[in-house]
Amino acid sequence: MTRPPRPDAAADGVAGVAAAAPDWDALAAAARPCVACPELAATRQQVVVGEAPAGHRPRFALVGEAPGATEDQTGRPFVGRSGQLLDQLLAEAGLDRAQAAVLNVVKCRPPGNRTPRAPEVARCSGWLRRQLELLDPPVVVALGLSAAKWFLGPRTVLATARGRAHDVDGRAVWATYHPSAAIRFGPAGAPRAGLLADLTAVAAALP
Ligand code: URA
Ligand code: SF4
Repeated sequence: MTRPPRPDAAADGVAGVAAAAPDWDALAAAARPCVACPELAATRQQVVVGEAPAGHRPRFALVGEAPGATEDQTGRPFVGRSGQLLDQLLAEAGLDRAQAAVLNVVKCRPPGNRTPRAPEVARCSGWLRRQLELLDPPVVVALGLSAAKWFLGPRTVLATARGRAHDVDGRAVWATYHPSAAIRFGPAGAPRAGLLADLTAVAAALP
């Protein structure tokens, strides 16, 4: 028997607080003490809000899944092993991280780096939605399946969605492999080549 969807008070709460944030700093200050997900709030070191260029609109946004251990310790997105490979591939593709917003679908590290659960993604979505409104990046690169699904829908398959821009609310959204997949399959593996090819295509298509 299917139950009707139950409104999630915590998700509504996040969405309301996020929507009321007038700017990036206010949003970050509101997100840092967030405890909408009881398990994540109890096990994380800190909320990893994300980063954005100071004083100007980002040329593009990178959106990952959730912080890992290094991000949880430092409070910065994509600074661990995945982040180091991402930096290397961005440089190879001719993209400048300093011009990018670096965000995640879920702002708290899931224990053991498990995939964030649907209710966690739903709760945290208010923060990301408002970040995108405030920063207004013309181009988004969704790294990995969690981010790809957030933008393109739950049925998204990376292998078929990647390699081109999708129009989402007037933004060009590219979905590609997560750098952790590129690490897992190794330097000669398909995900590393695919991620580099997609980032190179993004660089060529940037407005
Ligand atoms: N993986 C992610 O998806 N995001 C990070 O910030 C770090 C690792
Ligand atoms: Fe709040 Fe997002 Fe962390 Fe959940 S994952 S506690 S919604 S900041």
